[in-house]
Amino acid sequence: MLIAGNWKMFKGPVEAGDFCRALRDAALPDDVDVVVAPPYVSLAPAVQALAGTEIGVFAQNCHWEGEGAFTGEVSAPMLHELGVYGAIVGHSERRQLFGETDATVAQRCRAALAGGLNVIACVGETLEQREAGETDAVLRRQVSVLEADDNLVIAYEPIWAIGTGKTATPALAQQAHETIKSLLDLPVLYGGSVKPDNAAELLAQPAIDGALVGGASLDVESFAAICRCGSRS
Ligand code: PGA
Repeated sequence: MLIAGNWKMFKGPVEAGDFCRALRDAALPDDVDVVVAPPYVSLAPAVQALAGTEIGVFAQNCHWEGEGAFTGEVSAPMLHELGVYGAIVGHSERRQLFGETDATVAQRCRAALAGGLNVIACVGETLEQREAGETDAVLRRQVSVLEADDNLVIAYEPIWAIGTGKTATPALAQQAHETIKSLLDLPVLYGGSVKPDNAAELLAQPAIDGALVGGASLDVESFAAICRCGSRS
């Protein structure tokens, strides 16, 4: 079971350090892997505050080249050097707002893995696609560019459930996760309005191997509560 907190563009270096020190002291279950994904500028204080703990620090993206003329980008070797444990790639906000395509997501994913990072690769359909009955085809297309790897997990995030308070029903999420697993035999996290009060039911689904949490990961208590929902003990 993996619970990952995607902070998006929240928490600068000072706040990130404070948050991670508080998280280190929070009651977290031993049988749940916990990671946080701060903005780039807050990675160093997060790594420092969580040194010596089991909590991993992820970046929210990663470029496909090791270095070069790519203004505004950060590479896997740079993240690795900083002590960052992994990277999220293909988040729907990257796809919708910053022009990421299946091809660039695949490139980023491959480079991150080759650079020694663990990867959470995000997939998911829009409301329009779901209503048009295209969910399976969209997932198939997005997953088809990825290759199985021991250090790769997929996050299923239906775009209509992100930041909207509309969570997929556990049954609907289970079904999408089964589709993804039939294409690629990897752990699949659910993401989209996961909160302390719906996490237990979602995480009880057999094909749901964890959660990618946005808004509710910004508060130590609510994030820790979601982590505890993932415990089997
Ligand atoms: P949310 O975001 O939990 O705020 O819906 C999830 C995500 O975008 O990863």
